Amino acid sequence: MNILAFNASPRKKWNTATMLAHVLDGARSKGAECEMIHLYDLAYKGCISCFECKKIGGKSYGRCAVKDELAPVLERAARADALVFGSPVYFGTESGEARSFLERLLFPFVTYTPGYQAIAPKKMPTALIYTMNVKEEALGQLGYNTFMNRMQGTMARVFGSCEVLTATDTCQFKDYGKYLTTAWDAAAKAKRREEVFPQDCAKAYALGERLAAPQAGEPIRGAM
Ligand SMILES: Cc1cc2nc3c(=O)[nH]c(=O)nc-3n(C[C@H](O)[C@H](O)[C@H](O)COP(=O)(O)O)c2cc1C
Repeated sequence: MNILAFNASPRKKWNTATMLAHVLDGARSKGAECEMIHLYDLAYKGCISCFECKKIGGKSYGRCAVKDELAPVLERAARADALVFGSPVYFGTESGEARSFLERLLFPFVTYTPGYQAIAPKKMPTALIYTMNVKEEALGQLGYNTFMNRMQGTMARVFGSCEVLTATDTCQFKDYGKYLTTAWDAAAKAKRREEVFPQDCAKAYALGERLAAPQAGEPIRGAM
């Protein structure tokens, strides 16, 4: 089983990447072959609205026609056995590179037919990981659940199932003293990093185990 992880944070070793690494460790423990792709290493843009992926009889029907550094990654994603995607929350939604990636990944697989029938070449378990500064209780108040549920629904429609895992109240810097961050209690953030983030990572590990060994016939449910 081949599982691809996509890190849509510019940071390769902090909250989002760490959560993804735990997902892959969990998947590897079940025998999966795994790879993490750091999207900020790649030069690409979002969907350019060329509609080549929807042209009747076109050579790129159902596939993204844009040829850039993301193109081979999208080909690999379509052939994988499971996908996990992680993004920090920036201004109340995914990061810019995350949006661009998701547009390119998903749009070719959604047809402009009644019910937006999906035409991904294969169904597979997928997961979305979101890390963010706000506390868990703010997810509903600030509408974060809405955007996460919407993307989860699209992923599930395209690939068959999608689980969402969040890490809230994340620690943004190793040393809060170096930055103007009077909005937060640095000691509380450090404590959270030490005590709660490992629990988030354990949930990520368990998610990886599930991705690598989904229950036959049972779609993976959202976990928000
Ligand atoms: C440009 C920018 C915008 C952000 N906007 C939000 C936001 O709207 N809500 C939030 O909860 N956190 C916000 N954050 C904090 C990050 O989402 C959070 O620290 C995240 O865990 C960082 O992930 P990383 O460690 O993988 O980079 C923002 C951070 C940056 C750099």
